[in-house]
Amino acid sequence: MIIGCPKEIKNNENRVALTPGGCLELVRRGHTVYVQTGAGVGSGYDDDAYVESGAVILPTIEDVYAKSETIVKVKEPIASEYDLIREDQFVFTYFHFASSKPLTEAMIKSKSICLAYETVEAPNGSLPLLVPMSEVAGRMAIQQGANYLEKPKGGIGILLGGVPGVKPAKVVVLGGGVVGIQAAKMAAGLGAQVILMDINLDRLRYLADVLPANVRTVYSSEYNIRKELSTVDLIVGAVLIPGAKAPHLITREMLSEMRDGSVVVDVAVDQGGCIETCKPTTHADPTFVVDGVLHYCVANMPGAVPYTSTLALTNATFPYLLQIAEKGWEKACEDNAGLKKGLNVVRGEIVYQPVADAFGM
Ligand SMILES: NC(=O)c1ccc[n+]([C@@H]2O[C@H](COP(=O)([O-])OP(=O)(O)OC[C@H]3O[C@@H](n4cnc5c(N)ncnc54)[C@H](O)[C@@H]3O)[C@@H](O)[C@H]2O)c1
Repeated sequence: MIIGCPKEIKNNENRVALTPGGCLELVRRGHTVYVQTGAGVGSGYDDDAYVESGAVILPTIEDVYAKSETIVKVKEPIASEYDLIREDQFVFTYFHFASSKPLTEAMIKSKSICLAYETVEAPNGSLPLLVPMSEVAGRMAIQQGANYLEKPKGGIGILLGGVPGVKPAKVVVLGGGVVGIQAAKMAAGLGAQVILMDINLDRLRYLADVLPANVRTVYSSEYNIRKELSTVDLIVGAVLIPGAKAPHLITREMLSEMRDGSVVVDVAVDQGGCIETCKPTTHADPTFVVDGVLHYCVANMPGAVPYTSTLALTNATFPYLLQIAEKGWEKACEDNAGLKKGLNVVRGEIVYQPVADAFGM
């Protein structure tokens, strides 16, 4: 198969969909790999690393799309890429179709085959190509929170882990899924006093079993959240209700109970946020203050750590790419029902019901 990896052109996107290691595996199996010059630089891989792995470097994005049967990417194609995608070309990337009608219409028009990372399912129903980015964001939430709790950054001026003889900071994590468990682990590892809240009792049982003693699990309710607000230093928002906007677990009115200089990191901001006052920010301007509380609400947190995020993402995507390369997409999807769930648009038709529903198509 001829596989092409273009350089990501979305603003501030430094990840790359194929590493030199992945390239080597594909080339060894007899596939041809085209990589656009500079595609891996933001993640620490120069063109030479790809050449050593057997890839052919192409000078422009147009060349990569024109010569490849399969395109592997990170972010959804942006408008300038729409016309590069052609009939019967297979595109494997994050699409998030439901949030963009123009993208959906453009891919229908292209008659390409679009397999979206975000809807590929594992046998247990989990979303294996979303998990790694949640893991990155959960761990980063504590790094960012600890940073913004420092006085010069606008925070209250507390060290997350305290020191001997001085009590640590108090961290509340709302939601104990993938983001939440990673955030709780990181905060606990730094020595903070952590309260992890969820509404799923089975999940709370599991979390209570596997997390260290400085993480307490508490059932999530307005009453229980309110009780913590006057003493909390850092809140991490990590709630998800699949297919719905995140519920506002901390309202504007509740925020006034928090102390000046306390920090909220709302990771769930991409689903509207679970703190009412959150609105999406960027890495260039990540924070704002409401009622004295510092808010960090970057919608693409993993973008800040491409060296880690590229490997985390490709570790998860590569086994699927290999199946597609070895068998062709049709046979690969026939043999793997979870991979088939990733098909969203095929030769001019939407084949993933929630996307069709989103646009009444
Ligand atoms: N900002 C970013 O860069 C970034 C990166 C990755 C993920 N995310 C987002 O982070 C959010 C969490 O993702 P995830 O992978 O951890 O999801 P997940 O499904 O693994 O976990 C969500 C958890 O929220 C819990 N929950 C639901 N309602 C609750 C409530 N009222 N109170 C407390 N807990 C509740 C669920 O029981 C579940 O355990 C999602 O919105 C995701 O899109 C953002």
